Amino acid sequence: MRKKKVLIFSGAGISAESGLQTFRGQNGLWENYPVESVASPEGWRSNPQRVLRFYNQRRTQLSAAKPNEAHQAIARLEKHCEVVVVTQNVDDLHERAGSTQVLHLHGELCKARSSDEENLVYHIAYKNINLGDKCERGSQLRPHIVWFGEYPFLLEEAGEHIASASHILVVGTSLQVQPAASLLSYATQAAEKVIISLEASGLANSFIHLQGKATQHVPEICSAWTK
Ligand code: APR
Repeated sequence: MRKKKVLIFSGAGISAESGLQTFRGQNGLWENYPVESVASPEGWRSNPQRVLRFYNQRRTQLSAAKPNEAHQAIARLEKHCEVVVVTQNVDDLHERAGSTQVLHLHGELCKARSSDEENLVYHIAYKNINLGDKCERGSQLRPHIVWFGEYPFLLEEAGEHIASASHILVVGTSLQVQPAASLLSYATQAAEKVIISLEASGLANSFIHLQGKATQHVPEICSAWTK
């Protein structure tokens, strides 16, 4: 029998139980920070120090966070199925749990890049980026994060994986941000589709909706899909 191809589409909610803040909803990051001041090219131009501080704080929090049972169940699923994770998250918790195919649409907190040449990217793990930290060509380093108004990474590859998946699990995303959320329109009619979130889902009724926490429902779904 052909191996299942499982597509995981994750958002900030899968990392909430690891102690990382989500963006929307109570105590969300965007409640405390005006988005445009810390996550836009304009914010970077007007006050790079404030932007660097915002991401340095999140990187430090990430260094103290651990993958949770949802990340781990998804990583274990690779023993039984082909698993591709398409994530809006910039944390490295899927990778630390053991997932080996992770596409970061919105960039990665553990990487810095030249503010002038997008292809000059450096792995910095949980270190700070400070004003005066330069790339090899002498330009200021910036977070390797897709800001509002910038274009996401890997959209075409992510769409192809979604279109060829036999099982799709959407977990921990409010589906408020485009073009990431519209990638799910590539899902085939035949694919088994499940969404897990705390609030009622706005997704098409072809998705089974499990209302509740990722650590509660993701392991259940993953073990059902190993059969
Ligand atoms: N278990 C499951 N789902 C959860 C949990 C949890 N423990 N906690 C929160 N959620 C769900 C919420 O119900 C909500 O649907 O996670 C979702 C979080 O939504 P957002 O905070 O909007 O996060 P996300 O959808 O990932 O945001 C997308 O917006 O700001 C940009 O670039 C940023 O990648 C981010 C994008």
